[in-house]
Amino acid sequence: MTVSIKRVMVALWCILFSAALSAQTTESSEGTKQLWQLMDYLAVDYGGAVANGEIVSESEYAEMLDFTENAQKQSQALPEHPSKAAVVASVDQLREAVVNKADSTEVAKRAHAANALLITAYPFPVAPKNLPNLAKGAELYAQVCSTCHGVTGHADGPAAKGLDPEPVAFSDHDRAQSRSVMALYQVISQGVAGTSMVSFAALPEDDRWALAFYIGNLSHDDAIRAQGEKLWASDASLKSYYPDLTAVTTITEVAAAEKIPAGTARALTAYLRAHPEAVETGKPRGLDLARLRLGESLQVLSSGDRETATKLALSAYLDGFEPIEPTVGARNKPLLLAVEKAMLNYRSMVSGGSEAEAYAAASQLRGLFDQVDTELGASKADSSTTFIGALTILLREGVEALLIVVGIIAFLRKAKQTTALRYVHAGWISALLAGALTWFVSTYLVAISGASREVTEGVSSLFAAIVLLSVGLWMHQKSSADRWQSYLNDKLSAAMSSSSAWALFALSFIAVYREVFETVLFYSALAADGNGAALLGGFLTAVGLLVVIAWILLRTSARMPIGKFFSITSIFVAVLAVILVGKGVIGLQEAGWISVHPIAGPRIEILGIMPTAETVIAQIAVLLIAVVGFAFNYSGAKKSKAA
Ligand code: HEC
Repeated sequence: MTVSIKRVMVALWCILFSAALSAQTTESSEGTKQLWQLMDYLAVDYGGAVANGEIVSESEYAEMLDFTENAQKQSQALPEHPSKAAVVASVDQLREAVVNKADSTEVAKRAHAANALLITAYPFPVAPKNLPNLAKGAELYAQVCSTCHGVTGHADGPAAKGLDPEPVAFSDHDRAQSRSVMALYQVISQGVAGTSMVSFAALPEDDRWALAFYIGNLSHDDAIRAQGEKLWASDASLKSYYPDLTAVTTITEVAAAEKIPAGTARALTAYLRAHPEAVETGKPRGLDLARLRLGESLQVLSSGDRETATKLALSAYLDGFEPIEPTVGARNKPLLLAVEKAMLNYRSMVSGGSEAEAYAAASQLRGLFDQVDTELGASKADSSTTFIGALTILLREGVEALLIVVGIIAFLRKAKQTTALRYVHAGWISALLAGALTWFVSTYLVAISGASREVTEGVSSLFAAIVLLSVGLWMHQKSSADRWQSYLNDKLSAAMSSSSAWALFALSFIAVYREVFETVLFYSALAADGNGAALLGGFLTAVGLLVVIAWILLRTSARMPIGKFFSITSIFVAVLAVILVGKGVIGLQEAGWISVHPIAGPRIEILGIMPTAETVIAQIAVLLIAVVGFAFNYSGAKKSKAA
C-alpha cells in the first residue's frame, strides 16, 4: 500500500513540476484543479506519515512537507480574486498543521476546508455535465477494469496477479471513505505514471464519470443504500449537505462525517452515488429558477462582468421561464408577451445599458414574474376556457400553414402538374405524423428545452421565408397571362424534376410542422388543466373550421383567371415571407443567437413585427427584395409587350 501511495505522489509531482515550468501557458483552471488534487491527496495520505503526533514514516512525512510547501506556492500563484487571501490563509493553516505534526483528522479537516474555499472562489468542472449513467458504468467496469480490480472490486482479477504495485481494491471501505468521486475520476482520466494503471482519457468524459460513480460505490451494499434512501427521504435537513451534483462528486464520506453522524454519512454517500439524480429533484424550476438567475445576473453585473451577466440572464429565460411559457401563453397571452419583451429589454440593458437601467429593467421583470405567479396560482382553467384556448390556438397556427399549403396546391392545379401534388400531400401528412411523434416524445420522454424550441421555430421560419420569397418572385414574373401560357406549353409535358419535387415536399412539411410544433406545446400545457373533453371539442371544432377555410380557398382560387391568381398569390406570398422572416429572427433572438437592440415602435405579434433593430432590418430587407424584384418583373413585362 505504501508503494502505491508513493506512486500516486510521484505522479503528482510530475504534474506539479511541469505545471510550475509552464505556469504562463497553463490555464488557470488547470492550476486550480491541481491545487485541489494536491490537498485532496494530502487529506487521504497524511495518516500514513504521522500518527498520534509521532512520525511513522520519515520519507512519507518529508513528502507531506514538500506537498504543503508546493500547495502554498500554488495558492499564491492563483489569479487575483476577492477570496484569494482566504484561500491562501487556509492553505497556510494546513501547512502549519503538517509542520506541527498535527493529528491526521485535523489535517484532513483543514485540507477539506481549504478545498471548499478554493472551489467556491475558482470554480472548475468537478461535476459531470450530465447525470452519470450508472448502468453504463457497471458495464464498462466489467469489460475494462475487472481484469485487474476484480469483478466485485476486491483487486482479485486475473490480470492482478504479480502486479507491482497491486491494483486498488475499491471494496476496501477504509480507503474508499476518503476518496471522492472527483478524485477517482481524476485517476481514471490521468492514470498513475509508472504503474499498470494507464490513463483512460480516450473514453468519453461521460463514461469516465459513470465509472467513477460506479467504483466509488463498490465498498457499499444494497442494504446501506436503502438505508440512505430512507434517510434522504425522511430528513430534509440533509439536503443542505448535498445541495447539488458537485457536492456528491467532491465530498468524501470522511468529510461528510465531520458534519453528520458517521453512519448517516456512509449511508448517504452510498445512496447518492447510486442515485445522483436525487439531488436534482426539488431544485428551483420555472419562475423560482428565473428569479434566482436574474438575481445572480444582477450581482455579476455589479462587478462589471457583462458577459456572465448576459449568460445568466439568458438562463433565467431559457431554463426558468421558457418551460412554463406555453402555460402562461394559454392563460394570458398579453402577459406572456410582456414578460418576453421585458426579458429582451433586460438583456439589452445588461449588454449595453447602464447599471441603473439594468436594475430598472430587472425590477420591471420581477413585477411581471409576480403577475405570472398570480396567474398560474389562480384556479385551474374551467372547461370553457380550455375549449376556447384549444380552438383559437389551433386556428391561429393552422391558418398560416393552410395558406401556404393551399397556395401550393392551387398553383399546381392551375399548372396542371397534378402528379407533383403527391409531394405536397406527402409533406403535410408527414408533418402531422412528426407532430404526433413530437407530442409523444415531449410528453413521455424528454422535456424540450427552451433553447431548442426557439431555435426550431426560428430556423424553420427563416427557411420558409426564403423559399416563399423566391416562389413569390417567380410567380410574379409569370403572372402576365401570356407568359404563363407559354410557360405552360413548355412545361406541361415535362415531368417534374426531382429537386423541385423535394422542394415542394420540404416546403409543405416545414410550413405545417412549425405550426404543429407550436400547437403541441400549447396543447400539452392546456392538457395539464385536465379538461380532456373540452380540449378535444376545441380541437375538433378548429379542424372543422380549417377544412371549411381550405375548401373556400381552393374554390376561389380555382375560379380565378390565371393571371389574376398569380399576381394576387405572388404578393400574398411575399407578404408572408416578410412576416416569417420577422418571426424567425425573433425566435433566434430569444434563443440568444441574434443580438437584441430595442427601438421605439409597436409590437404586432401576428405580423412578426417587433420593435428591435434586427427584426425590422430583416423585414425591410425582404420587403426591398420583393419590391425590387416585382418592379423588375413589371418593367421586363412592359418591354416585352412593347417589343
Ligand atoms: C492492468 C491493470 C489495471 C486495469 C485494467 C485498470 N486498473 Fe486501475 N489501477 C491499477 C493499479 C495497479 C492501480 C494502483 C496504482 C497505484 O499504485 O497508485 C490502479 C488504481 C486505480 C485507481 C486509484 C484508486 C485510488 O483509490 O487511488 C482508480 C480510480 C482506478 N484504478 C480505476 C480504474 C478503472 C475505472 C479502470 C477501468 C476503466 C481501471 N482502473 C483499470 C491497475 C489497473
